[in-house]
Amino acid sequence: MTMKRILISVLVLLMAGWSSAYGEDGSCLWLRLDTVNTTAMITGVKGTAMTELQTYWQGDPVVLKRQKGLAKDGYTIKSLNGKIVITAANDAGLLYGAYHLLRLQETGEPCDMLDIKEEPFYDLRILNHWDNPNGTVERGFAGKSIFLNPTPERMRMYGRANASVGINGTVLNNVNAKPEALSTESLQKAKEIADQLRPYGIRVYLSINFASPIKVGGLTTADPLNDEVVGWWKEKVNEIYKLIPDFGGFLVKANSEGEPGPQDFGRTHADGANMLADVLRPHKGIVMWRAFVYAPQSPDRANQAYLEFMPLDGQFADNVIIQIKNGPVDFQPREPYSPLFTAMQKTPMMVEFQITQEYLGAANHLVYLAPMWKEFFSFVKPASLRAMAGVANIGDDTNWCGHHFAQANWYAFGRLAWNPELTSKEIAEEWLKLTFSTLDTLNSQLLSVMLDSREACVSYMMPLGIHHIFAGSHHYGPEPWYNPRGVRADWTPPYYHRADSVGLGFDRTMQGSGNVRQYPDELCRLYNDINTCPENLLAWFHHVPWDHRMKSGRTFWDELCHKYDDGVHEARHFLAVWDAMQPYVDSQRFDEVQHKLRIQARDAEWWRDACLLYFQTFSHRPIPQDMEHPVHNLNEMMQFRIPITMYENPEYGYNK
Ligand code: GCU
Repeated sequence: MTMKRILISVLVLLMAGWSSAYGEDGSCLWLRLDTVNTTAMITGVKGTAMTELQTYWQGDPVVLKRQKGLAKDGYTIKSLNGKIVITAANDAGLLYGAYHLLRLQETGEPCDMLDIKEEPFYDLRILNHWDNPNGTVERGFAGKSIFLNPTPERMRMYGRANASVGINGTVLNNVNAKPEALSTESLQKAKEIADQLRPYGIRVYLSINFASPIKVGGLTTADPLNDEVVGWWKEKVNEIYKLIPDFGGFLVKANSEGEPGPQDFGRTHADGANMLADVLRPHKGIVMWRAFVYAPQSPDRANQAYLEFMPLDGQFADNVIIQIKNGPVDFQPREPYSPLFTAMQKTPMMVEFQITQEYLGAANHLVYLAPMWKEFFSFVKPASLRAMAGVANIGDDTNWCGHHFAQANWYAFGRLAWNPELTSKEIAEEWLKLTFSTLDTLNSQLLSVMLDSREACVSYMMPLGIHHIFAGSHHYGPEPWYNPRGVRADWTPPYYHRADSVGLGFDRTMQGSGNVRQYPDELCRLYNDINTCPENLLAWFHHVPWDHRMKSGRTFWDELCHKYDDGVHEARHFLAVWDAMQPYVDSQRFDEVQHKLRIQARDAEWWRDACLLYFQTFSHRPIPQDMEHPVHNLNEMMQFRIPITMYENPEYGYNK
């Protein structure tokens, strides 16, 4: 080691030690600011901006100024005669401007000669918590709900974190909503949370159970066209607004996966959504009505949202937004975009991304999701949408997200909702600098790990368009063979992979389920032809023969084997890069991330071996000699179970 290198290491170690004395446990997220001054909290959103600046800003004096003419929540920051002036049309704009300034300070950007103008792309930038009243979080991998026993300190941090990236709304409870979400007791609790988040410019929303008039109100029906039902909703909504005057509105999962909805009463999604919209309109509330619908009798789950919603295009009230998952099936590591986005022309739409990694290794795998969301935006124009929602990955774990790097996904969601033009790289760089200031954050290797991580995950889990081959209930590991008697077909992997002696994949061409027809003509043609279909979606749209010739010159089977193996090597590489970061990272976060990366590298092997050995029982082809061969055996893996529910992160993955 050179003398310079030794000196740098000593300095970094000292800094790391110093930082950990201040608790580098991830609890401060990307807001690891040094306090320069403590003053009493000033109330209101502008008060929050002032307090944050007084407490943490180290540069020239800042003046906050309200001025008409700027977009809602937008701001300018200008250096003027030794001062910095933040101007905004509303108080939230001032707060976002304050956080922008602090971000510049913390990322070491020059803070003189400032001349910045920002405005958010979407008005509504909203988290969806899938939190249950008993504190469990559906597909949550970071502990219990933060709303179960919300301490003021934790709520403050949650508010700050969201506001610092521009998030301005939060749905407090699971889309599989318990009727008691609307009980007076729950509403009181929602009010307390709303009061704590208001100073950060965050409005609260609730998921509702469509049968609430029956289950909470004691009525005999929840028919949206029934007067008594409408009256019940009116009263309930009045009760909510008395408690929470700036309440945002409802998120609704209806007639989906067993949840009640208007179809139970012979009505349509539009009837249900519009009734709620009418009731909320006088209060300026909105309805986010989900399009996540599918039924077991349909020959192709990917077709269904389109089939159900297209006939209703143009029939929704103006304060209804149809909330659509990015892909047509369900948050898979890779899906094509949901064709509803380009088909519906007369209906306000919003995208629902999943920040929590239900299908991407939970809180054990480092998978930076911005590239996946950017991929979506390369097909769906941001301007064709009204808003962006993200299913939160937040829980009461000390580090909030279970994995230190999962914080980057919360961060990236907010930044992209503010500005979908930002690149994955810009966001990752920013987050790395803020989160690991002791690292040489221009460390291109770590940046590459983040940027490559989603594609690596696709490779070791489900390359070339394969999808939904997860374990039956918890979606963590591979179970392409899972097919118990009595379970509906579309909840089992063989429905999606369709492996047989001919090949692998779901035929969604014109000759198959016809799903390609739901896309614009050009894409329809592209996807329909096995020779032009992008290879990363091949088994999504085609039943691909094992010997189909790929662009690489390999057969499909050989390519599949290589892809899985590449994924394994990438996961190992991520671990090696991180191992080399030890001198530059505080010890707690270093150890915790290393532990997770070890799990990820082993899980990648598990995925590769389980999937290849299982698919080999259909392909009857050898695993190519020029790659690493499975190190486990299929029978052993078919016996292996991780005994977790859908509310938990497994402590380990494959550990036999
Ligand atoms: C997935 C997920 C469920 C969730 C559902 C939804 O299917 O596994 O837990 O309820 O999506 O988005 O409604």
